[in-house]
Amino acid sequence: MAEIIITKDEDAAGEIYAKCVADLIENKPDAVLGLATGSSPLAAYRHLAAQVKVRKLDVSQVRGFALDEYAGLDPAHPQSYRSTITRTVVEPLGLDPAKVHVPNGNLETIKDAGHEYDAAIEAAGGVDVQILGIGTDGHIGFNEPGSSLASGTRIKTLAEQTRIDNARFFDGDVNQVPTHCITQGIGTIMKARHLVLLAFGEGKAEAVRETCEGGISAFCPASALQLHPHATIIVDEAAASKLAHKDYYRYAYAHKPAWQQI
Ligand code: F6R
Repeated sequence: MAEIIITKDEDAAGEIYAKCVADLIENKPDAVLGLATGSSPLAAYRHLAAQVKVRKLDVSQVRGFALDEYAGLDPAHPQSYRSTITRTVVEPLGLDPAKVHVPNGNLETIKDAGHEYDAAIEAAGGVDVQILGIGTDGHIGFNEPGSSLASGTRIKTLAEQTRIDNARFFDGDVNQVPTHCITQGIGTIMKARHLVLLAFGEGKAEAVRETCEGGISAFCPASALQLHPHATIIVDEAAASKLAHKDYYRYAYAHKPAWQQI
């Protein structure tokens, strides 16, 4: 089972992620970071950028792979995940843009883009730390309920709920949200050496409960994390509100040996 950490808020969660990744970069300057878009990782990226500055870390060799991209959306569109990763990660951290990869959502080449992306991750030696958000329906990446738990990177149809949830990034207009995407598969995500899933707010409480305390099922794709040897789930009180074993998670975290990282 994953380690579950209940924090005060997104900032506290972001600090935990940032320390973990800053330590990694210090020890492995060409670390491979798995990157997510959406709201959940924003505080974590802000805190990581601050750590990079304060600790004067050399990030020139750091590599990155984003989880997903909309299909058929111009990469120059402000809401493309290429633009989002540039804005929220590459620029604030000062990464080399040539070392940060985003799946190619071009419809003409998308058929082969998934295999190529998985091969590129493998050629880089695999992802060291993969940050994840979770959809209200339990998706990770854009692996909607029903996705194979062994899947590789490929084109997927976005669930209607996901398009509704993401309409806020497209002037509130669901019709502007693409219907398809290219996403790392659950099998791809599971190959990362460490997974850090962040979830905040009441709206995520049911998905978090199913992920942590439900059965492993393709109908809650994030539940695959129960099979990962090193997964950390960091949530705020609202997202933790439906967990039956909250007290145990708090107790275990409070008694974690000081030398042990997340
Ligand atoms: C984004 C991604 C998605 C989001 C999820 C949660 O790259 O892969 O799985 O992490 O939809 O989105 P937020 O964080 O905006 O609630």
